[in-house]
Amino acid sequence: MGPDHAVQTQGAPLAARMSGIATFQVLKLLARAKALEAQGRSIVHMEIGEPDFPTPAPVTAAALAAARDGDVHYLPALGLPALREAIARWYRDEHGADIDPARIVVTPGSSGALLLAMGVLLSPGDEVLLADPSYPANRHFIRFCEGVPTGIACGAQTGYQLTAEMITRGWTPRTRAAMVATPANPTGTTIPGPELARIVAAVAERGGALVVDEIYHGLVYGERPPTALALTDQAFVINGFSKYFTMTGWRLGWIVVPEAYLDPVERLAQNLFLACSTVAQHAALAAFSPESRAICERQREEFRARRDYLKQALTELGFDIPVTPDGAFYLYADCSRLTDDSFSFALDLLETSGVAITPGLDFGTHRARAHVRFAYTTGMDRLREGVARIGAYLARARAGAPAAVPG
Ligand SMILES: Cc1ncc(COP(=O)(O)O)c(C=O)c1O
Repeated sequence: MGPDHAVQTQGAPLAARMSGIATFQVLKLLARAKALEAQGRSIVHMEIGEPDFPTPAPVTAAALAAARDGDVHYLPALGLPALREAIARWYRDEHGADIDPARIVVTPGSSGALLLAMGVLLSPGDEVLLADPSYPANRHFIRFCEGVPTGIACGAQTGYQLTAEMITRGWTPRTRAAMVATPANPTGTTIPGPELARIVAAVAERGGALVVDEIYHGLVYGERPPTALALTDQAFVINGFSKYFTMTGWRLGWIVVPEAYLDPVERLAQNLFLACSTVAQHAALAAFSPESRAICERQREEFRARRDYLKQALTELGFDIPVTPDGAFYLYADCSRLTDDSFSFALDLLETSGVAITPGLDFGTHRARAHVRFAYTTGMDRLREGVARIGAYLARARAGAPAAVPG
C-alpha cells in the first residue's frame, strides 16, 4: 500500500493536515468490485458496512409527507426538538437511562458527531487513545483536528477492545481522550458493562474525555450491554440512524454531550453544518414507531442468522475467529493460516473469484496483514455463494493451480 494521500498539487499546496488523511481501502476495493460488475462479472459483496435492507416504509412515508407539507427550511443546529425528545424517550424506554433532551444533538450521520466531539476536545498535539483495530475514520477525524491518534494493540484476549488497564497504561500527560466503540467495527465485539464502568472511572480519574461510539448498539445478538449513558453523564455518546434503522443515505446521527460542552458543541454545529436535513429529521421521527421497530427487529434476527452461518462456514474454511462477535454485522477473521498478506489476499480473491472483503490494513497496523473483515450485509444465498467461491479459491491455492477467473 503506497502513501496514496501524498498527492502533488499543481496550484496552492495542500494543507499539512491532509498528509494524515488516507483513503479507505474498502472504498477502493468497492470501486474495483463495481468496475468488474460493469464488465459483467458476478461479485459477492462482503466488504460493505451498510445494511442491505431498505429503509423502513413508515420512515420513507414520513419523509414524503414532510416534503409535501413544506417542511424544508432550516431547523435549529441542535436538531428538531421533537426528534431530540423522541431519542430521549428511546433511551428511557429501551435502556432505562434518563437523558435530558437538551443534551442530545442531532448530527449529519454519526460521522458529524465524531467530528464535533474531536472538534471541541482537541488542541494540536493532543493524544487520543483508541483500539487498533478500529473504525478507520476515527484516526482521521483526530488528525483533521491536529490531534494524535494513539492506537493500542488489541487482540482476541480482550475481544479486540480497550480495557481500563490498557487505557491507564497508555495515558500520557498529552492524552486528552479515549475512544471506544461497542459493538465495534471491524470486530463486532462489545465491551462488557463492568469493564465499561471501569473505563469510565479510569478516564475520569485522569481528567480526560471518553467518547463512546454506540452506532451498532441496536444490533446486538445476545445480552445487550448497557449504554454508557446509564453509567455516566460525563461521556460523549454517539449513535445514529444508519445501521439498526437502515438509514445510511439519510445522513442522520446524534451525540449526547456532557452538559458543560453543550454550548461549544452548539457553536461548532452551527458553524460547520448550520443544521441537518429537515426532511430526514421528520422522517427519523417515524423510525421509533412500533411498525418501524418491528421491521428493524426482524432485520436484527436476520443478521444474527447470517452471523451464525458465516462464522461456522469461515471457520470450516480455515479462518480463525476466536471471539464470537455479539453485534454489528462484521466478522474479523485471522487468515494467517491461509495467507501471509491479507491485502493481496483480498485483492486476489476479488479479481479471481469475485468475492469482495476488506483487508485488515484499513483498521490499523496491529497484525493487520493477518486479518480480513467480512460484512454479512448481503442475503444468505449470496453469503453461501461467497463461501463456495472462497472454498474453491483456497482449494486451487492449496493444489498450486493457477487462478480460474470466472467469465
Ligand atoms: C464505528 C462507526 N462509527 C461511525 C460510523 C459512521 O456512520 P454514519 O456517519 O453513517 O452514521 C461508522 C460507519 O460505518 C462506523 O462503523
